[in-house]
Amino acid sequence: MTATTNPNKALWEKGDFTRIAESMRESGEALVSKLGITEGLQVLDLGCGDGTTAVPAAQLGADVLGVDIASNLVAAGKARAEELGLTNLSFQEGDATDLNELDHKSFDLVISIFGAMFAPKPFDVAREMVRVTKPGGRIVMGNWIPNDPTLVAQILKISSAYSPPPPEGFVSPMTWGVEENVIERFAEAGVPKEQISFERDTYTFNYPGTPSELVTAFRRYYGPTMNAFDAAGANGREDDLQGELETLFDEQNTSEDGTTSIPATFLRVTVDR
Ligand SMILES: C[S@@+](CC[C@H](N)C(=O)[O-])C[C@H]1O[C@@H](n2cnc3c(N)ncnc32)[C@H](O)[C@@H]1O
Repeated sequence: MTATTNPNKALWEKGDFTRIAESMRESGEALVSKLGITEGLQVLDLGCGDGTTAVPAAQLGADVLGVDIASNLVAAGKARAEELGLTNLSFQEGDATDLNELDHKSFDLVISIFGAMFAPKPFDVAREMVRVTKPGGRIVMGNWIPNDPTLVAQILKISSAYSPPPPEGFVSPMTWGVEENVIERFAEAGVPKEQISFERDTYTFNYPGTPSELVTAFRRYYGPTMNAFDAAGANGREDDLQGELETLFDEQNTSEDGTTSIPATFLRVTVDR
């Protein structure tokens, strides 16, 4: 019997997202510090990667479970928790579209920062997040915004011009950055729109090298960009893609000391249960 490949899992196990996550630690910590986390709060971090938000949540005293579809990132998260001596932080593999291993109403706070947005079947994802949240609890999502002029939406826009059209029926992860879609998905999971609030927030990518070195890190380690370069390479256009991304990263860089600091806008969604 041949194992079927889950393309969603394969995308994130490709490369090594920890190399990009390292540039997102300060913003992860700043965001978590605004969530009113208290000792003993039961927190789920969904699509947690190697723990950019799960680690600071545990450092604030919450009992945190990080769930991610990528086995390499779950392993990296476990290694970070162990290194930091965080016994209140654990990680396990799971799929945001079907969290069957988690009980109903088990978390006070479900965080998903640029995580669940990347799972297919957004209505299933909303239903699962709602199902595992306790009454009176909260869901906080961070979602990139389509056509936003800042970094991540622009990387996607540039990359898509080099990539084949997505398969029929494909729902772009970026649709989670549109308020009407978020309202519709949570409404189907039983949450009235009055319980959902939105604000624009900023994540800053801080990297110790130059903007072009950060482009190279995306090219080597970030699954979606790796795929774009594979597609560009098939048409002999890798240099064009590298050039366009370097121009973008240079234009958006606010650091003047040879390092890189690029702010990117996202939609912060809060759902009150
Ligand atoms: C851009 S990374 C963000 C990781 C982390 N939240 C952070 O802020 O660094 C997207 C994460 O979502 C995870 N992911 C994608 N699809 C998923 C799914 N269906 N279920 C659970 N995790 C998923 C990926 O493996 C990856 O770790």
